[in-house]
Amino acid sequence: MKRILITSAIPYINGIKHLGNLVGSQLPADLFARYNRARGNEVLFLCATDEHGTPAELAAAQTGKPIADYCTEMHEVQAKIADGFRLSFDHFGRSSSKQNKELTQHFAGRLLDQGFIKEVDEKQIYSHADNRFLPDRYIEGTCPNCSYEKARGDQCENCTKQLDPTDLISPRSAISGSENLEVRTTRHLYLMQSYLREKLNAWIEEKRDWPILTTSIAKKWLNDGDGLQDRGITRDLDWGVPVCKGGQAWPGMEGKVFYVWFDAPIEYIACAREWVDAGKGSDWERWWRTDKGADDVSYYQFMGKDNVPFHTLSFPATILGSGEPWKLVDYIKSFNYLNYDGGQFSTSQGRGIFMDQALEILPSDYWRWWLLSHAPESSDSEFTWENFQTDVNKDLADVLGNFVSRVTKFCRSKFGEVVPSGGEYGQREQNLIDNLQLRLDAYQNHMEAVDVRKSAAELRAIWVLGNEYLQSAEPWAIFKDDPNAAAATVRMSLNLIALYGQLSEPFIPDASEILQSAMGQDGPSWPESVKDTLGQLKAGDVFTVPDNLFTKITDEQRLTWNKKFSGLRD
Ligand code: MF3
Ligand code: ZN
Repeated sequence: MKRILITSAIPYINGIKHLGNLVGSQLPADLFARYNRARGNEVLFLCATDEHGTPAELAAAQTGKPIADYCTEMHEVQAKIADGFRLSFDHFGRSSSKQNKELTQHFAGRLLDQGFIKEVDEKQIYSHADNRFLPDRYIEGTCPNCSYEKARGDQCENCTKQLDPTDLISPRSAISGSENLEVRTTRHLYLMQSYLREKLNAWIEEKRDWPILTTSIAKKWLNDGDGLQDRGITRDLDWGVPVCKGGQAWPGMEGKVFYVWFDAPIEYIACAREWVDAGKGSDWERWWRTDKGADDVSYYQFMGKDNVPFHTLSFPATILGSGEPWKLVDYIKSFNYLNYDGGQFSTSQGRGIFMDQALEILPSDYWRWWLLSHAPESSDSEFTWENFQTDVNKDLADVLGNFVSRVTKFCRSKFGEVVPSGGEYGQREQNLIDNLQLRLDAYQNHMEAVDVRKSAAELRAIWVLGNEYLQSAEPWAIFKDDPNAAAATVRMSLNLIALYGQLSEPFIPDASEILQSAMGQDGPSWPESVKDTLGQLKAGDVFTVPDNLFTKITDEQRLTWNKKFSGLRD
């Protein structure tokens, strides 16, 4: 039994995520968690909401609610939607938790002791009208790179260039709109990442099996002229983890908080502590401290490509710099972007399909299957309604659903709702078993390698093999002359349904549960050998005919949805 720690990038608290966010982190992480649990591995799967930073503050201000209340509400909203998508987190934590506050302050204190933190007097924009500093998104202005007039202090959305608030031309406050601004000196803490460059380089060099997307981004930032800059890890804000070292005050840092990207990844660790404190587990250090048992943990992270620098450089710098035996990530799976119908999904513009809207129109299995089987791994991929309709109807309704319905209904009408006896397996069954075993081996290999699309393709091929078998054995045609031969085919096919229930669970958990309970199976037990598994249902065992597993998406639905989602969400 292996021990597998899995984290998904923690979504920002503001607003509901779109399907592009989902397929780039939480969903593939869930696939991998479910697969590993089914294989009997010990899994800890963690996610949380990312609650600090200016996006959260600005969003809360728009609703007029106190930020802490806003975060509590939005956390519940996101948790409920995550449930709707059957995301099987062992714990869904909050970066604003007391556990994270304590750990973040602990890391800062350690980094200071180890010589990785410097106090720097730097220039920040101060607003007289607002009576405060304006970091990151609190400031807007014209992009010096592309002249876009609504660029934000941290980044220009139009040309994606990373900015500093002081780079903006004609800056104004995002809170009051005031242009009465002044550049003032303020003291901040800098994490001296550049001191760790050699160590980080050596660490990344070892990771020969990582996806090219991950290592290419890491190396670009590590080796570029301005790569691995020392970065400010504090902000002049009220909302966040107060700057302290360990439990003690930090002179000169009063009223400041840590930058959101400093405390957010630490939440991966704090979340395990929240999991224990919530009474769901015991001994979080066994997962996170290599001196306390975590040396035999394999740790996998899932994220979109924009998150890669923070996970390959900044967070490892925090961990390595602490000089303490924290677990470092073993495998970083990153994703390109999913586009929406000829453009980009965009949260700020409300373009595309958002998680809550998706569940309002179709059950989660439809989305899980399509998204995972089109995961943007080697390049960006695109959602179109035509493609969604075609693929879902084909894979889920025509191939899997139709197989299940033909077999169970035919059996019920000719033999009743019991596995029929009689007849024998021959060459056709032998070939089927051999082909399935090859496919199963490939499916497992792709899953172990976290190749999401390839895994989906194997699973689809496994479903197709059942259809081909049934089509060539034709039990409905031979029943009259040779009912025993038809019985053998049906017996094999019912066993195939049980097998599909087990193998499909990581992708489509709801349908899989229906299949398993219809076939009288309780819970996934992984088929180590196809031959043995296809003998699990014996003549005389009872089953039930499941309701239609998947309903086809009609042209009318497609047109309606296409229209409904063509505008922008308000
Ligand atoms: N909230 C960030 C985003 O959505 C991800 C944070 S991941 C963590 O892009 F490492 F910081 F936790
Ligand atoms: Zn720009």
